[in-house]
Amino acid sequence: MSFRILGTGMFVPERIVKNDELSNYVDTNDEWIVQRVGIKERRIATHETCTDMAAEAAKAALDNAGIDASDLDLIIASTVSGDYASPSLACMVQKRIGATCMAFDVSAACSAFLFLLETAAGYFARGKAKKVLVVSSERLSRILDWSDRSTCVIFGDGAGAVVLEEGDNYIDAVFNVTGDNEVLKIPMYTGESPFNTVEPEKPVIHMMGQETFKYAVTSICNDVKALLEQNNLTLDDIKYIVPHQANKRIIDMSARRLGVPVEKFCLNIDRYGNTSSASVPIVLDELNRNGSLNRGDLLLLTAFGGGLSDAACLIKW
Ligand code: UT7
Repeated sequence: MSFRILGTGMFVPERIVKNDELSNYVDTNDEWIVQRVGIKERRIATHETCTDMAAEAAKAALDNAGIDASDLDLIIASTVSGDYASPSLACMVQKRIGATCMAFDVSAACSAFLFLLETAAGYFARGKAKKVLVVSSERLSRILDWSDRSTCVIFGDGAGAVVLEEGDNYIDAVFNVTGDNEVLKIPMYTGESPFNTVEPEKPVIHMMGQETFKYAVTSICNDVKALLEQNNLTLDDIKYIVPHQANKRIIDMSARRLGVPVEKFCLNIDRYGNTSSASVPIVLDELNRNGSLNRGDLLLLTAFGGGLSDAACLIKW
């Protein structure tokens, strides 16, 4: 026993920021961003908090699933850009949607949505839950260095959620972690201790772009191939690959290496940029609502990011 996806939801802030507007803050331009990353615009929070976005995505997913918050047995959430170190985002969502169940966060940066699904699968396997809310929300604009053109142009804000119920549609998953804080990191606020002797690091996203790029392509290809082999499938059996939305060129290169048309990969990075752990559930919600999915379709979800961590899973819609 694992789960099936009963409903999906998403929320993005109202404010649309197009590439040209970013040249007010850093030396950049629309042409570079479109060509090198594939982003045309992103949503940036003005007043929406990480919790606001998570709660709205959660409500949309509950509505889509046709269940109430009181029916939930578990809420699990992810964020690298939450409003509080404590309470967790999951606890805040529980309060905001009026649920009373168990709630906690899982930390795995941009790969976290897939780690959440695996965690949920464990609860279903043990018969400990019948309905689970999984929600990923990111207000990355809060933790960007707005003077660093190599990071501030590629990220955006948003949230995605799914409601799961008992079923057999979570077929298989692979996970890899390589402890590393050089390539990609978000240092914590160092604090104001009068005893501290260590030079504080800025609490913003630090990223070695090209190293991350290479890691991303390698991990997507390896994870997809591993899942296909483990399940005696080929890419012809897969309706869509739903990747973490980090850079359109990462997807183009992965598609070339895997020998599949790039259209097999679902992309919305042009409209939302990279929303870290929220990116995969946001794509899922768009696919669900625009009628692209039929019951029984096989989907491969794939993600990578800080940790370093990468993951992929095989789901039957
Ligand atoms: O979700 C977390 C995972 N993150 C990722 O997967 C990100 C992976 N990495 C990337 O997507 C790309 O490496 C970036 C988009 C971050 C950078 O693209 P790149 O093609 O690797 O550029 P680069 O770092 O090699 O820089 C090329 C040039 C440099 O100028 P010079 O030294 O050649 O004169 C940069 O200074 O592009 C310049 N540059 C920019 N120019 C205009 C860097 N950022 C910008 C910018 N606008 N925003």
